Amino acid sequence: MFSYLIIIIIAYLLGNISTSYIVAKRLSGVDIRTQGSGNAGSTNVLRTHGKKAGAMTFIGDLLKGIVAVFIAKIIAYFVGVDGVTAGYIAVFAVVCGHNWPAFLGFRGGKGVATSLGAMIAVNPIIALSCFGVFLVVVAITKYVSLGSVVGIGMAPIIMAFTKNQKGLLVTLFLTASVVYTHRENIKRLIKGTERKIGQKKE
Ligand code: G3P
Repeated sequence: MFSYLIIIIIAYLLGNISTSYIVAKRLSGVDIRTQGSGNAGSTNVLRTHGKKAGAMTFIGDLLKGIVAVFIAKIIAYFVGVDGVTAGYIAVFAVVCGHNWPAFLGFRGGKGVATSLGAMIAVNPIIALSCFGVFLVVVAITKYVSLGSVVGIGMAPIIMAFTKNQKGLLVTLFLTASVVYTHRENIKRLIKGTERKIGQKKE
């Protein structure tokens, strides 16, 4: 039990490392949360700082998800606890750390790239299938938010066809958190006022 607590703390702290915050601060000295949509994420960095910065943010947030699960599995291996459980606990904690970072006043991002990275590390086939759905939705509609909600929402649906109950529980959490963090995007999508990819103005 103590090992799982350590995994939660490490993954949560890793989640606190906000790539968008660091990239925007280094490039223009601004707090990304005061720019564009106000979200600490790659879509907003793309919108406010360009393609290269957006891509760097996406990769950074994705990698921290992968690293959190990787560290959890190493700890599980050495202390002799279940690696699968440790991995799923890390998915949960790294996404919480990204969305609600204590070191940034609990105002973080929406958890899409970090969820994808963490899920790639625990279940690459499901994660990449969801990413494929995300890409198709974004390519058709130009709405990253819609692609994010639909893409992550596919994860528990696919997981339900497996007998992986822990996976189902965690992907249900990811879906609930992505719907919650995208609640304003969803309202704008319904009203038809949501920004399309790369669109700078309201
Ligand atoms: O992953 C975040 C994306 O889905 C929406 O970001 O900045 O348009 O609210 P944003």
